[in-house]
Amino acid sequence: MTSSAAWRIEPVGPLFGDVSVRGSKNAVTKHMVAALLGDTPSQVTNAPQIGDVEITAGMLRALGAEVAIAEDAVVVDPQADLVGEVPVSFTGLNRIPILMLGPLLHRVGHVTVPLVGGDRIGARPVDFHVSALRALGAEVETTAEGVEAKAARLRGARIRLPYPSVGGTETVLLSAALAEGRTVLENSAIEPEVIELALFLQRMGARIELRPDRRFVIEGVERLSGASHRIGGDRIEAFSYLIAGLATGGRVRVYGCAQDRLVTAISTLHRMGARFEITDDWIEARADKLEPAVVQTHPHPGFMTDWQSPLVVLCTQADGMSVVHETVFEDRFAYIDALQAMGAEIELFDACLGGPGCRFHEADARHSVVIRGGRPLHGVEATIPDIRAGFAYVIAAAAAEGSSLLHDVHHLERGYSRPFESFAGLGLQITRIAG
Ligand code: EPU
Repeated sequence: MTSSAAWRIEPVGPLFGDVSVRGSKNAVTKHMVAALLGDTPSQVTNAPQIGDVEITAGMLRALGAEVAIAEDAVVVDPQADLVGEVPVSFTGLNRIPILMLGPLLHRVGHVTVPLVGGDRIGARPVDFHVSALRALGAEVETTAEGVEAKAARLRGARIRLPYPSVGGTETVLLSAALAEGRTVLENSAIEPEVIELALFLQRMGARIELRPDRRFVIEGVERLSGASHRIGGDRIEAFSYLIAGLATGGRVRVYGCAQDRLVTAISTLHRMGARFEITDDWIEARADKLEPAVVQTHPHPGFMTDWQSPLVVLCTQADGMSVVHETVFEDRFAYIDALQAMGAEIELFDACLGGPGCRFHEADARHSVVIRGGRPLHGVEATIPDIRAGFAYVIAAAAAEGSSLLHDVHHLERGYSRPFESFAGLGLQITRIAG
């Protein structure tokens, strides 16, 4: 991957064709971490070819685990003596180091992980992870370089997350499975990728129940063994390619992501005038005319925050005023500048528009947008700020008149499986310019 590589995009009108999505980025890496808890190797298949898998494999190898990646299969053998330190060279690359704390406490007893990165879409603190680990009996210290923790043995506890955090829930699942006694986690995230991780841990021998009201109950066990799992389709990619079809007036058929992962996405697009054909194998969307929308992002089963940027691009193509209120991350509209430079009429507000007030109602955070759709977009030269924004730029560039030049496409390659080939397969004219 060349960090400064760019794509030149020549719009060709409507995008038509088929795209196959692989397993979800936000599930595969967590399964790789869970494999550390087994006393035999684990395997995941349908793994996407993305930078995040390579980064996570690098971390696991640095800890002493063996990782083999071949085609779509990732095998993690955690049986060697592990070290309890994720090297500082992994600082800021993704969110995974913080999830290593629980498993490494079980395996090694003392752990140091570097500062986590991930996209700059808000403050993204790790206080829920730290508090949960302390509740489970670990001594945890946050330093300027990262997080240090130690524990002779983790013990079950009753924990309530202040917000249904995906990573916070995963930390508790990964830490409580081998802890002594019962852990009750209230206000859990129940995203499909979180449930998938819980099922994988169950397959490894964990005793996990999901009760009503977002409550996980985990009875710690003495040992877990390796397991195999085929990672479910990436619902963010699936949605984004459906939007690429709709925003350009075309029709894209997406294979590899089950309908039940896209329920809210489909109902939202229905309201905007999209028509769907859905089978067990694929989902196809098209629209003769797009209606504006009022949408708020929420934890699952709400409209997911990672669908927000493609949706905003679609709203630029709908006749009338749309409102999108981001309630999960306070700073997830950094990409709007580029859309405005393309001619989109979008205004940002720090108020909570289009629905009830959210956690950010008094924060100095521009987390609502009003989009006046139906204005033509024109090509732009822009630098991609993060994964999801990057994909939105590509869709906007495909829907625009004139060519666009998008820098820093490495963001796309960290999170999407072979995006260049997929877009080219839909007929988009793209040239990759090495940096
Ligand atoms: N939060 C805290 N403290 C914490 C943890 C979270 O205040 O200790 C807050 C966050 O700042 C945010 C909210 O809780 O306001 C939700 O964050 P969450 O923990 O759910 O997010 P995450 O686990 O860091 C994952 C995905 C994101 C996705 C979110 C929400 C991964 C690697 N990342 O992040 O995906 O948007 O859940 O579904 O799984 C992406 O793929 O582009 C991406 C950003």
